[in-house]
Amino acid sequence: MRKTLVAANWKMNGSREFAGQFFRDLDLNGVDCDVAFCPPFPYLPIVADLLQEAGRPSVSLGAQNVSEREAGAFTGEVSAAMLKDFGVRYVIVGHSERRSLFGETSELVAQKYVAAKEAGLVPILCVGETLEEREASRALEVIGSQLDAVAELAVDDCWKGAVVAYEPVWAIGTGKTATPEQAQAVHEFIRGRLGAAGEEMQIVYGGSVKSANAASLFAQPDIDGALVGGASLDAAEFAGICRAG
Ligand code: G3P
Repeated sequence: MRKTLVAANWKMNGSREFAGQFFRDLDLNGVDCDVAFCPPFPYLPIVADLLQEAGRPSVSLGAQNVSEREAGAFTGEVSAAMLKDFGVRYVIVGHSERRSLFGETSELVAQKYVAAKEAGLVPILCVGETLEEREASRALEVIGSQLDAVAELAVDDCWKGAVVAYEPVWAIGTGKTATPEQAQAVHEFIRGRLGAAGEEMQIVYGGSVKSANAASLFAQPDIDGALVGGASLDAAEFAGICRAG
């Protein structure tokens, strides 16, 4: 039985003060799904301490990106080993904003995925189509190629110990959530492409998830949780999404 995972992607938002107030306001009592927070890099130690102080060791720490390199003269980069140093468990790779705004190709995303796994992190591999690709009936072709780039590189037990996030680009930050049926159809396709490991893997949905729509998404057989952007910046809203899980 797969456990639900609800992960917060704070993107480039927050501050020391915001993080302190957020975790004072956050009430996860009664929540029994897996929960993770992915703050910007500088706040990883602060959030780690706040999770410990609040007696929430069961909540995991995540990062929003990672270098594909192990170490060296790569100014500005953050390695998987450094994330492990801060107790990070999950790391988002291939978010559509990294792909579209920072030119990350599926090949580079695959290298990041491998670097994360080799360091003992759990990669959350983001895949998803643009509105143009969906309207051209190319969504599954695009998502399939994004998955294939990883499968071609991370050969042994490629998908074991990883999470996949389906994030339709047209639903991110737009308030236009995919319908549960639309999302389920893609999640079912993804799970089919993951082979033997697919049955055990968490495949989460991202794209305008709110406390009001989370339960209908999580009720779908192949939707195992959410990767939440905007709504994860509001403690009550985020807790509401976790309670749906
Ligand atoms: O990684 C999650 C994010 O892309 C979804 O953003 O604001 O639509 O929940 P949002």
